[in-house]
Amino acid sequence: MSANMEGFEESRKGKEIAVDTIKPGKDHLPWVEKYRPDTLDDVTGHEGVVTTLKKLLANKKFPHLLFYGPPGTGKTSTILAVAREIYGPSYKSMVLELNASDDRGIDVVRDQIKVFASSRQIFQRGGEENARSNFKLVILDEADAMTNVAQNALRRVIEQYTTHTRFCILANYTHKLNPALLSRCTRFRFSPLPEAAIDKRIMQVIDAEKVKIAPDAKAALLELSKGDMRRALNVLQACHTGLEHPGKDTITLSQVYLCVGSPDPADIDTILTSILNDDWTTAYDTVSTLKRERGLALVDILEKLSAELMALNLKEKTKIALLSKLADIEYRLANGGSEKIQTSAAIGVIKDSMELEV
Ligand SMILES: Nc1ncnc2c1ncn2[C@@H]1O[C@H](COP(=O)(O)OP(=O)(O)O)[C@@H](O)[C@H]1O
Ligand SMILES: [Mg+2]
Repeated sequence: MSANMEGFEESRKGKEIAVDTIKPGKDHLPWVEKYRPDTLDDVTGHEGVVTTLKKLLANKKFPHLLFYGPPGTGKTSTILAVAREIYGPSYKSMVLELNASDDRGIDVVRDQIKVFASSRQIFQRGGEENARSNFKLVILDEADAMTNVAQNALRRVIEQYTTHTRFCILANYTHKLNPALLSRCTRFRFSPLPEAAIDKRIMQVIDAEKVKIAPDAKAALLELSKGDMRRALNVLQACHTGLEHPGKDTITLSQVYLCVGSPDPADIDTILTSILNDDWTTAYDTVSTLKRERGLALVDILEKLSAELMALNLKEKTKIALLSKLADIEYRLANGGSEKIQTSAAIGVIKDSMELEV
């Protein structure tokens, strides 16, 4: 085992207890940072990706990499874990992290890469055994935000520095990336995380932070995160911090809905019942009160409301009328229409369309 690997093993041992005990100096960090995976084994839900990466790491021919997939699925965390595995705890000096969205142009990127790639590695030991770490790593985050021109230039940069540098490109969508750039990298897809994978990590955090959460609230948290671990952790922390006595009180279902900004199904039921049964003024009062109390936006209400309406046993023509008119309202809202007027309109539309049922 190389010296670097030993360093890695040690840091990993340190980590296993770290999930249970609160890391000193990390208490002030948001949970997404505090519990960012340190090793590839901490990355949940991407077993195939992790296995292949481990094989590549064992193999001395490390390729350029492309990680793509929606936000919060572990792209940045995974490449940082890889870097730690290659270079050990002092990996930072061997890694250049560039974010395509805040670097002004390809010239800046090119210069930074040039300086980084050509500076000598201080602790380079050489020798067959350490051949794996004889390259430096450039991480290009949000590369799909780069212009086509910049991507073309990047292609040349990659070729120029391949002898001593490996690139890892992180992106949300591959269709925004230049095909020539794509063809130079080994691709890994980071799919939205399955609920079980989010659950596994969340449970570690719940234990470490002594969070109390009701089973139905946790189930909703997993579902509403839609495969985004960052979202799950942020919502969990927001709910936990929002409690009057964190650690003593239990996080409830409605609190999770509140933190996500998604309407509680119980509230949607109240709204629908009121629109269908009460007169217009009462219905309007119900909706505006709930909107104000729960801090909801009409678009979010409309989304849930239309799903609920479609689940009812209605005539086809009623459903068509509802959908097309609610879609108009949604469109107007997206274009800056007034919440107040559109709320009234939505109630009117539902009441009107329901007339078709009789
Ligand atoms: N697969 C995963 N396993 C464990 N934690 C994860 C995973 N994906 C995301 N996270 C958590 O979510 C946060 C955001 O992940 P990150 O790697 O920055 O996502 P991305 O780069 O894909 O947007 C991390 O700090 C980590 O705590
Ligand atoms: Mg990222």
